[in-house]
Amino acid sequence: MEVNRSVQPINMNAPQPVNIVTAEFKADPFPFLAHLRVSEPVYRTTLPDKTVVWLLTRYDDVTALLRDERFTKNRRSALTKDQLRKLPWTPPMFRPLERNMLDLDPPDHTRLRSLVHKAFTPSLVEQMRSRTQAIADELLDRVVPTGEMDLISDFALPLPMTIITEILGVPAKDHDKFHRWSQAVVSLSSPSPTLRVLPGVWMFIRYLRQFFKLRRRDPRDDLVTALIKAEEAGDKLSEDELLAMVFLLLIAGHETTVNLIGNGTLALIENPNEMRKLQSEPSLVKPAIEELLRYTSPVLMTTERYARENAMIHGVTIPRGEMTLGVIGSANRDENVFDNPNELRISRDPNKHISFGQGIHFCLGAPLARMEAHIAFTTLLRRLPDLRLKNSAHSLRWRPSMFLRGLVALPVKF
Ligand code: HEM
Repeated sequence: MEVNRSVQPINMNAPQPVNIVTAEFKADPFPFLAHLRVSEPVYRTTLPDKTVVWLLTRYDDVTALLRDERFTKNRRSALTKDQLRKLPWTPPMFRPLERNMLDLDPPDHTRLRSLVHKAFTPSLVEQMRSRTQAIADELLDRVVPTGEMDLISDFALPLPMTIITEILGVPAKDHDKFHRWSQAVVSLSSPSPTLRVLPGVWMFIRYLRQFFKLRRRDPRDDLVTALIKAEEAGDKLSEDELLAMVFLLLIAGHETTVNLIGNGTLALIENPNEMRKLQSEPSLVKPAIEELLRYTSPVLMTTERYARENAMIHGVTIPRGEMTLGVIGSANRDENVFDNPNELRISRDPNKHISFGQGIHFCLGAPLARMEAHIAFTTLLRRLPDLRLKNSAHSLRWRPSMFLRGLVALPVKF
């Protein structure tokens, strides 16, 4: 049944504007987002650095945004001369990272995506399946004797991190460094880099450039070598684009899946009937993963789009050059698309969630993430049938971030 919700006049008793990058907002954004869907589906707010940002919260509006020609990814192509002059200064060393495909439009996006797409085949994911199972088992072997663990640092993080580093071919022993550096990037509260993150990003870039030198001298059967070959084959991939690609894959390849495994485990523990159902019917794991993707939205917001022209949505004008985000976590709970959207139902069917985005930037790693989640949840539930929280759910802390929604730690016992 369609919920009638023509745009309402602004409700003076509405919740106070919130800072969308804070840990407090990430803990439970859903009531505020439900309010926006009804009353202010095109909502103007600001980031901590005062950048204006527009949030779209209805399912239809978020999916339309991801295909809307009036919006661009590359902000330099959307801004007026005046807006360009006012952009915060970007240190030159950051410039190459702007060449990552998630921040580009066609034709550059098409060229870069088709290069890497060849490597992210279903057969690569299949090849990694038994390795993922072995890592999941090794990680649990370490903690089972102790009867407790931090599910994030002991399991949910090292699993996807090890897999993406092995696919790329970067040394697994350097995990901790990569994670420290990438944390600095994903905890940014605005798309413009701040001084705080400069040292980490600088070290990350220097590390990768040295690693590329090594792989040029000593090629291997890995993704970095394949991308270097593409770069050397002609003008398909520049050195900066190679850097930006590996940087993006390393970050997107683990900072997201960790949240699916972490948030998903918490959601199952908090919904014991659904958890028992999954334990007694393991064949439900596929729809269960789709439901955990929908219910927990590990990527809460899309990355930014910029209006190329003044763009009117529901009678509200988003001015040229201003940043717009589609709130995936809100679209995934839109009552016009999902029955009882605030209930976790592991056998939900149909389930048209948009946790991997839509359109040309649809998540490249979705098959890999689904395979990793399949192994993570089946292994956890099989080996730790009595999984429960160690402390109260109120003590859990969430990570501040612009786009992601994930826990700092998830102490559990079993
Ligand atoms: C549960 C895990 C994951 C979630 C929820 C997720 C979500 C997303 C979303 C929502 C987008 C689109 C963003 C936008 O349009 O603004 C995206 C893009 C992307 N994701 Fe994922 N992702 C996950 C795992 C992965 C993994 C494992 C990889 C590893 C390679 C990956 C690589 C990428 C890349 C490269 C893009 C950019 C694609 C493009 O610009 O064409 N993601 N992801």
